[in-house]
Amino acid sequence: MSPESGLQPAPSRRGLFADERLLATAAILIVAVLLIGGIFWADRAIRKWHDRDLSRGADLIAAAIDPEVDRLDPTEMRRRLNLLSADDRLVGVLICSHRGSIVNVRLQPILSCGSPLVRRARDRAGSPIFIRIAGQALLVNGYHVGPAGAGTVIVVQDRGFIWSRRQILIRVAVLAGILALAVLILAIYYGARLTRRRADASMIESLHRAARGEEGAVPGNVAGLLDRLNRDLAQVRSERGDLAADGPARLRRLVTERMPDTPLVVVANREPYSHVRDGDKIRLERPASGLVAGVEPLLKACGGVWVGHGSGSADRETADARGRLPVPPDHPEYVLRRVWLTQREEQGYYLGFANEGLWPLCHIAHTRPTFRAGDWEQYQRVNDKFADAAAEEAGDHGLILVQDYHFGLLPLALRERSPGAVISLFWHIPWPNQEVVGICPWTSELLAGMLGADIIGFHTRYHCLNFLETVGRYLECRVALETMSVEHQGHETKVRPYPISVPWPYAAVDRSEGIKLRSELGIASDASVAVGVDRADYTKGILERLVAVEALLEEHPELVGRFVFVQIAAPSRSNIKRYRDFVSEVEESAARLNRKFGSESYNPVILRVRHHEPEEVLRYFAMADLALITPLHDGMNLVAKEYVASCADEDGALVLSIFAGASKELEAALLVNPYDASDVARAIHEAVTMPAEERRARMQAMRAAVEKNTIYDWSASLLGDLAEIWEQRNAAWRKSDRRTVEEVR
Ligand code: G6P
Repeated sequence: MSPESGLQPAPSRRGLFADERLLATAAILIVAVLLIGGIFWADRAIRKWHDRDLSRGADLIAAAIDPEVDRLDPTEMRRRLNLLSADDRLVGVLICSHRGSIVNVRLQPILSCGSPLVRRARDRAGSPIFIRIAGQALLVNGYHVGPAGAGTVIVVQDRGFIWSRRQILIRVAVLAGILALAVLILAIYYGARLTRRRADASMIESLHRAARGEEGAVPGNVAGLLDRLNRDLAQVRSERGDLAADGPARLRRLVTERMPDTPLVVVANREPYSHVRDGDKIRLERPASGLVAGVEPLLKACGGVWVGHGSGSADRETADARGRLPVPPDHPEYVLRRVWLTQREEQGYYLGFANEGLWPLCHIAHTRPTFRAGDWEQYQRVNDKFADAAAEEAGDHGLILVQDYHFGLLPLALRERSPGAVISLFWHIPWPNQEVVGICPWTSELLAGMLGADIIGFHTRYHCLNFLETVGRYLECRVALETMSVEHQGHETKVRPYPISVPWPYAAVDRSEGIKLRSELGIASDASVAVGVDRADYTKGILERLVAVEALLEEHPELVGRFVFVQIAAPSRSNIKRYRDFVSEVEESAARLNRKFGSESYNPVILRVRHHEPEEVLRYFAMADLALITPLHDGMNLVAKEYVASCADEDGALVLSIFAGASKELEAALLVNPYDASDVARAIHEAVTMPAEERRARMQAMRAAVEKNTIYDWSASLLGDLAEIWEQRNAAWRKSDRRTVEEVR
């Protein structure tokens, strides 16, 4: 948060209780002072009481002796005195009279009628003397006795017991003080909490009343707070809006400021818009392709050209002689250049080498890759064809962003045609380990073609490392793991992870649309709905997902009738037998489950194998209690991120395959092994029974992860790295241009 934003950080817990702490400290100090003062006072009082008691005892002894001092003979007097020694506090008595001195034996050495102490006591008769002899605390009282007070009685008593009484008192007082303090602190703490809660509750109530516009109900302080909150909220909204709007602007700035006057060309087989003949009409179609969803925002932001295969039945009619047309057709932002392929080319390059060879090879999804020499030939030919078109669009110093496994040979072909161009190749699917890659009979040629790029990108670091290992294994080249780069035939290629993402903010689900869709599909309003959104592709784990749904309903029969799995699957690559077989297998499996668990009014599986436009997909997300995204292997899987991004109300759960690149970022999803039906069933059950709080917390964490890395971040980091290379190369041209100019002069 910027310091200028005026937003204050939320009060920390420390701050919240600062007042209570101050109060508690003051209370502790006061109680401690009172306690210490009290102990002093009580101690003095105890001493006084005991000394007075002792003195009274001494007075009594003196009073008893007084009339007898001249009457009794010394032996009798001594006998009587000895009777007093039963009192252990009495240390000694000394009588001095004209009959001599009589003393009890214990104090003989110090007490004699002529000693200074006795003289002092006699002189101060009536006020006791406190002395300490041999570590013993003593009280000495002196009295004048006998006729005319000529005699003296000295009574000496032990004060030691007073000290032990004082100790007991101090201990009891300290203990009581500590207890009192603890009770006091607790009372202050809980009292303050209670008061604060009441104040908060009344503040919240006032805020609610204010929000409802109930007039006169808002106290002054709440009105002030409300005002500030409103201002802060407006600022946050505008900052967020700026940020979201800033994504495309950031990309535009990056391209125009760092690579001025540089044509931007994207090459991707799948075109973002195709025109399809439908009787007399021509229909515009948008494909189900993560690649298209991910790459188009870049061209929309920066303008440029998308070179793609013109595959729609009405594509030629809707483009100019060079196959160009502005898109999107209703509000053009960039140019689509269609490349025409013959049926043979499409068969060999797209269906054959790319989708029957490289696709299963890279996904390792247990469909055997098929490599044919004829397909490889067409793959080379079509890569050359696209190289011609892209080089024409990019000129000599353009920026060319090649997409995916359809164009492994394109970077080198482009470098030969446009040596000054800056070229990247982004591989949207996984890159397996080097042993698997070696299955392709043309591995070295493919790798050499890829290394024509300045940057090769993958979604994850793991795939980058696999790639570096592969080139080290199959090519004569220098692989630098520390800089993640490869030098091959004098050209350096950087290998980097760029996890693709979705725009942010994303179109939010409208739950009322979800409710409508439920009733359209005949799903009970209280049933839990899991939704799967995929292309009908064997790598997406749809069959395995159905097995998991079966396991779930077997394990939890209480969910039969109360759980529905809705799978929408866009038909894909239907010219390939494996794909056609796959759709039949999925349909059979869904029908079997419906026979097994369904009834007249209930089908546990609803399968829709047809193309759905993005707006329709959003309705399915709006209906879903959870999304089931369990590919057997996937570079990223943007559907997972799209689902999370669309749940703006934070209400949704995601069961996600650990083999999807997205699982590296969406750690708060319920992560599963898609091959393990019981694991997936467990996760579905967890998702439908999860407490609302946990569900929200997980969704919040996933949304934060997506917001942190949007599609604009993906494009910006790739473009930023390309700009660095562009700047270096551009500086070199300037030098050589200058040299040429000077030579001409
Ligand atoms: C994957 C590929 C994309 C491809 C998409 C749809 O996401 O990485 O390159 O566009 O599938 O497949 P399709 O063959 O219909 O283009």
